[in-house]
Amino acid sequence: MVRAVRVSADEFKRALGRWATGVTIVTARSGERVHGMTVSAFTEVSLDPPLVLVCADKSSNTLPFIQEGGAFAVNVLARDQEALSNRFASKKDEWKRFEGLECDSGPTGAPLLRGTVANLDCRVVAAHEHGDHVVFLGEVNEVRTSDRPPLLHFEGGYGSFDRG
Ligand SMILES: Cc1cc2nc3c(=O)[nH]c(=O)nc-3n(C[C@H](O)[C@H](O)[C@H](O)COP(=O)(O)O)c2cc1C
Repeated sequence: MVRAVRVSADEFKRALGRWATGVTIVTARSGERVHGMTVSAFTEVSLDPPLVLVCADKSSNTLPFIQEGGAFAVNVLARDQEALSNRFASKKDEWKRFEGLECDSGPTGAPLLRGTVANLDCRVVAAHEHGDHVVFLGEVNEVRTSDRPPLLHFEGGYGSFDRG
């Protein structure tokens, strides 16, 4: 039986805004071109094999890069990288997001940003369309971590984590 959804878009957004998340930049490569966007819809899926997922809006320009390259990198932002989060979320100068940024390259070639909390280089193993997003499941090939404090996102604003 199909049940009608009785949640308005505003209610849905308000409830999800109460979910505190980290902030990532998901990057991808297609041939010589790279692109990326700010993403909070990221989570771990499996330990063995190591799998994560990210959700990309069907209208995002990063999506075809992930599809064409069959890979993506998740760059988990540090507390002092709020400006990067805004840059990779803004449509202004969208094709200049990497300007002046030093990046490394992992096994898949997706850009790995520096100064982050963690980088995960992933090969796409499945993609599922649901509603207005595509869920990409990625097998993690390589990780880098640092002990920098993370950037957090809550109710449309940024914050940071302090160990109680
Ligand atoms: C904190 C934050 C989290 C976001 N999370 C997502 C996300 O999980 N998935 C998504 O598709 N867009 C997300 N966005 C929006 C994209 O970053 C934004 O639409 C971006 O301009 C898309 O770029 P593109 O079209 O060049 O790929 C988020 C934005 C912000 C500020």
